[in-house]
Amino acid sequence: MADNVMIGNSTANAKLSDELSSLIYQSGFGNEFATEAVPGALPVGQNAPQKTPLGLYTEQLSGTAFTTPRALNRRTWVYRIRPSVMHKPYRQISNGLLRSTPFDEVPVPPNQLRWNPLSIPAAPTNFLDGLITLGGNGDLSMHSGVALHVYAANRSMESLYCYDADGELVFVPQSGRLLIHTELGRIALAPGEIAVVPRGVKFRVEVLDGESRGYVCENYGASFRLPELGPIGANGLANSRDFHTPVAAFEDIERDVRVVCKFQGNLWESEYDHSPLDVVAWHGNYAPYKYDLARFCTINTVSFDHPDPSIFTVLTSPSEIPGTANCDFAIFPPRWMVAEHTFRPPWFHRNFMSEFMGLIRGQYDAKAEGFVPGGASLHNCMSGHGPDATSYERASSAELQPQYIGNTLAFMFETRFVCRPTRFALETAELQHEYYTCWQDLKRNFPRS
Ligand SMILES: [Fe+2]
Repeated sequence: MADNVMIGNSTANAKLSDELSSLIYQSGFGNEFATEAVPGALPVGQNAPQKTPLGLYTEQLSGTAFTTPRALNRRTWVYRIRPSVMHKPYRQISNGLLRSTPFDEVPVPPNQLRWNPLSIPAAPTNFLDGLITLGGNGDLSMHSGVALHVYAANRSMESLYCYDADGELVFVPQSGRLLIHTELGRIALAPGEIAVVPRGVKFRVEVLDGESRGYVCENYGASFRLPELGPIGANGLANSRDFHTPVAAFEDIERDVRVVCKFQGNLWESEYDHSPLDVVAWHGNYAPYKYDLARFCTINTVSFDHPDPSIFTVLTSPSEIPGTANCDFAIFPPRWMVAEHTFRPPWFHRNFMSEFMGLIRGQYDAKAEGFVPGGASLHNCMSGHGPDATSYERASSAELQPQYIGNTLAFMFETRFVCRPTRFALETAELQHEYYTCWQDLKRNFPRS
């Protein structure tokens, strides 16, 4: 399917267009924001007055321990129609094809793995129903590791909300736009953009173009943040001001709705008699955000060779070991290649870290075919990978002129633990069993003795 296809009649399109263009965002990564959807809803000068303005309830949402150092502390005060405590007991429901740690359904092969894109389902499928786990690692109860999901949906979540107590969610749509309604405001998201919904924040996903497909990283570890820049200096890669957080927006809905919670690896469901997205005003630094990957200031060599792919890191979730991320999110965007006397595509390598890759559009420079938009690949710890035979031949004999690679947008979630595939990932018809053959035609060039 094509990106950004509009459906419906022109009146509906105009209304949607007006709604999307009216969305307002606040700039800056992890800033202390203050926003109110109704004037006067936000208390002034204190967090929890005896009587909250407009008869709202006060609630604190703590994304880190109370005593986390100030630079890393994340919390938000919300002023809402009803407090979050008002719900009936949660009952366990089917996990569908969602999986969680310890990811021990099947043995982990050391092979290179690659998948075709998921098909858009024929049956009505919302974002939550359409989530499928390909793999993951760590221990969510110990706040480490990630899960890597893909999704394909053709329905919006109506009267259905969810939140994830196990981790934050990174949305990477590949086709079709989404409108993510969260407790703290609305985020419109198109392919080429990413959004992050923090652990615990309730949301529902509206599918704007009839259908949508993409990737989701569920991060059990430390929340994603901007990487340090070291000798690069104060600018470059992803700049703080290009991260956008929504302003307060709320639903004043009084009817029965369902709320699904992911908690300790399982899905649980409860009924509410009102929308949980009833935050009228909030202030704090624990909030969802979006980022347009086209804003990424790519840095690379202007002489020879190329730096490690860490130079493409947009966001990082650090672990307790310096420089060894729980997960890095890196992108390979349109860029100039100018290195002289250099093999320009990614080289052959084996990596301590494990690499899950996806493609949002175009072509990836290390693969001639087989790695297509919406597909995915997984190269785990110490599994050899690199350019296929066709790409190797082409790149090692090309005349090296400055070259602009325009039609590409690949990304990688690189994680410190082996990414353990799910049973679905190894048994689906979308697994490319012949992936290994792309390297079998690499020629011996060293003279035989
Ligand atoms: Fe790699």
